Amino acid sequence: MYKFDAVINNKFIEGKERLNILDPTTLQTGGTVAALDEQDIDNAFLAARAAFPAWRDLTLIQRINYLTKWNELIAKNREEIAKIMTIEVAKNYKDALTEVDRTVEYITYTLEEAKRLEPMAFTGAGYDVQNKYAIYERLPKGVGLAISPFNYPINLAMSKIAPDLVMGNTVVFKPATAGSMTGSMLGKLAVEAGLPAGIFNVVTGRGSVIGDIITQNKELDFISFTGSVDVGHHILEIASTKDVILELGGKDPVLVLDDKNLDFYSDQIISGAFSYSGQRCTAIKRVLTTNAIADKLVPLLKERIEKLTVGKPMDNADITPVISPKAADFVQSLIDGAIKDGATVVIGNKRDNNLMAPTLMDHVSLKSDLAWEEPFGPVLPIIRNDDINELIKIANESVYGLQAAVFSQDIDLAITVAKQLETGTANINGKTQRGPDSFPFMGIKDSGFGVQGIHETLLSCTRLKGIVINYKNPLTK
Ligand code: NAP
Ligand code: G3H
Repeated sequence: MYKFDAVINNKFIEGKERLNILDPTTLQTGGTVAALDEQDIDNAFLAARAAFPAWRDLTLIQRINYLTKWNELIAKNREEIAKIMTIEVAKNYKDALTEVDRTVEYITYTLEEAKRLEPMAFTGAGYDVQNKYAIYERLPKGVGLAISPFNYPINLAMSKIAPDLVMGNTVVFKPATAGSMTGSMLGKLAVEAGLPAGIFNVVTGRGSVIGDIITQNKELDFISFTGSVDVGHHILEIASTKDVILELGGKDPVLVLDDKNLDFYSDQIISGAFSYSGQRCTAIKRVLTTNAIADKLVPLLKERIEKLTVGKPMDNADITPVISPKAADFVQSLIDGAIKDGATVVIGNKRDNNLMAPTLMDHVSLKSDLAWEEPFGPVLPIIRNDDINELIKIANESVYGLQAAVFSQDIDLAITVAKQLETGTANINGKTQRGPDSFPFMGIKDSGFGVQGIHETLLSCTRLKGIVINYKNPLTK
């Protein structure tokens, strides 16, 4: 059983109370972390505030050198981190390792990209101003609060933390409870790497208990949050800063517009819908297509679902237990509701508590919650309509607007439809996905606010500061 402590000012804090971390596979406690109180959290923010000036005033290369050491330790501990992730979030070991490797690459890329954030220079000449030079450089905003969700415990943590730190901010990091052993491990490695005290602090505890205390702390300058719409909107209402970036949920549709490459489309749809048991913000969460295409597509999807393995994360099963029995109950309620409304179960709809068989539902009615709600589990609804304009309308009627995918060999049609989809990103002939991490990533409507991505995050954690130099020519009177 694992035991991890929080990290404040480079000190390990056990906490007056401890929080049990559920292993979703055994439904037993997989380890414990500190359950911090208000005083501990205050201390974390005070430490981050105190450390800010010295960290900001290091050269960029000095900060990069510190963070490189940390990144090397993360890479060295890849197996251990991946194993912890299999225990606390039930991600299969292979995917957990991929997540760690992807994160190491993310950090490396971020440290390189930071070097290219050159100041901008202006002469004002375009406005017939002959006596000014202006330099605009990017300065850190101060103390950043990073809050991550359970589903990518290291990637969605470090994709905030690394840019914040390299640009000279200091950070208080609140991992999801399921994911806080991985988060605490990052703190432990930061201390081992010799990061200056106070620049990176890990605070653990249930969001329902400490969340409001954290987001209302007066020392924080900006927040980067990834998680559910409800919590994101709540933070926006109560936070002590209005500088908030939100990456929230999704109900990504895929529009299949022809039957010319159905094997390829099916492979993409299955991988997009069922990786990590559908617990990805960018998972394909509905298929929109015509009756004629659906009649050919459904058997191909079924064939592929039959081949997915269901089981334990350490056995590298494709489908592993969803994060909790409560999450499984929610997915089940969506399936049951859709069946009542006339949908057919093509395959699946079996469960052993929170281990759910991958489920494909056809003829899902627009009346059903499954057509609109984000299940965050292994279920894929098919919604049929013979009018392409109606399919686009259904795609856009969602409150979400993260990503969408369009499959068609008619590139004119694909581009035309992709342009009409109200999402941050529309993918043509490829599944919905965040990566590569260097691409800008953003949701509209309830899916979020602000833009992430390696370059974009470096911008969002900094502010422009201009120095305008006025001069006159002393040689002319
Ligand atoms: P969640 O329940 O909203 O939790 C997210 C984070 O917020 C956790 O660290 C949680 O801590 C914390 N939290 C809870 N209450 C809080 C409060 N009052 N104040 C501050 N923080 C609070 O989401 P989740 O279940 O972990 O993740 C799944 C959701 O995230 C899905 O909707 C998914 O689509 C979305 N997501 C979006 C993206 C994206 O990039 N758009 C990426 C990944 C996931 P506790 O765990 O301790 O409650
Ligand atoms: O859960 C949300 C992640 O940002 C998705 O990333 O599309 O690479 O799985 P991904």
